[in-house]
Amino acid sequence: MNILILGGGGREHALAWAIKQNPKCDKLIVAPGNAGIAAIAECASVNPEDGAAVVAFCEENAIDFVVIGPEAPLAAGVADALRAAGILCFGPSAEAARLEASKAFTKEICDAAKAPTAGYARFDDLAAAKAYVTEQGAPIVVKADGLAAGKGVIVAMTLAEALDGLDEIFGGAFGAAGAEVVIEEFMEGEEASFFVLVDGETCLPIGTAQDHKRVGDGDTGPNTGGMGAYSPAPVLTDAIAQQALDLIVRPTMAEMARRGTPYQGVLYAGLMIKDGVARLVEYNARFGDPECQVLMMRLGAQVLDLLLAVAEGRLAEARVNWADDHAMTVVMAAAGYPGAYAKGSEIKGLDALPEDSFNMVFHAGTKDDHGRILSNGGRVLNVTARGATLAEAHARAYAMVDGIDWPEGFCRRDIGWRAL
Ligand code: AMP
Ligand code: GLY
Repeated sequence: MNILILGGGGREHALAWAIKQNPKCDKLIVAPGNAGIAAIAECASVNPEDGAAVVAFCEENAIDFVVIGPEAPLAAGVADALRAAGILCFGPSAEAARLEASKAFTKEICDAAKAPTAGYARFDDLAAAKAYVTEQGAPIVVKADGLAAGKGVIVAMTLAEALDGLDEIFGGAFGAAGAEVVIEEFMEGEEASFFVLVDGETCLPIGTAQDHKRVGDGDTGPNTGGMGAYSPAPVLTDAIAQQALDLIVRPTMAEMARRGTPYQGVLYAGLMIKDGVARLVEYNARFGDPECQVLMMRLGAQVLDLLLAVAEGRLAEARVNWADDHAMTVVMAAAGYPGAYAKGSEIKGLDALPEDSFNMVFHAGTKDDHGRILSNGGRVLNVTARGATLAEAHARAYAMVDGIDWPEGFCRRDIGWRAL
């Protein structure tokens, strides 16, 4: 079959790498792709957020199946446009993707589903929000309602930070995404991510992961999109995963179906775990980036069969073949990230690295310049490895990192520290 993946980061490189290994995949196109993806698939320049353009591209290129990587096309209704045109697609409708696109909506659904999550209040007025925060006191969490590229959340340890955060959000720092705020109780505990495939009805867990949001070793410095990840997450034991499935994920999915907006795709549940109890921090309507890279490394070619079972509503008959393995990815970023950084520095040494089912460098932000690989973003490479133990995956990943010659890049040296 002919397959189109929308997106151009490390997540989409990992999806392409896994899907390409499945014999059902005849032709693979990724839009827009990147220099690493170009080595295994055709890259196309269609705008992934333009539903009509994506449908037209699929018709011209006889595409049988579309996999949507990032959240923006989901929120823009690209999955709806594809389904309306009769094209098989992996990813939720715009209405179902509101579980990521609106934090207030998610809270409303959690209330209806009685899913354990932080207590909250919502406001569209600065003065009322400030009065509430002042009355509640710190620590407290202030969130812009809409999509803000991971930047609309202020975990305020002091009242002043919370009030400044409200000024920033209502001052327009996140545009329309900040027209409303959700103010949440601060939850303590250890965070982990739980990934569940959903075909509207059936829920099938496909793995757990932990990422590292802070830029610096020892979880210091500003927040990023994620500096590394590993799977499985030891804190998300089988018992806690079952609890999260029974009390959080299934009731949420049932509520979405009850409302006539069933969810179809991967549901990424960010959980806070304390004393054996999981509460929901947030949902995302897509795979995590870089969490997807470690999941793909572990699942391999069967991913295509699973994603097709979701799109065709056949998840009840699908099975995941688990290996008792571990995977880790280390993000190499451009100096300065997550602040200002330069693009266009040359990355050498990639050709000499192993590329097999245990070792893979996924490209997140690169471009090809007549055979030279240049950095083209903040997060640039995802150096990913698999092993029988996390220690083995760690050793393999950092051995590859040490083989990469890129003076303008950096990475954290302590990915996996909690589990190691
Ligand atoms: P979100 O975009 O909702 O995932 O928030 C980003 C990060 O803020 C999360 O990964 C948590 O580390 C933190 N966070 C969000 N909500 C809470 C909360 N209610 N209590 C504690 N930390 C939170
Ligand atoms: N790594 C966090 C995310 O993808 O949202």
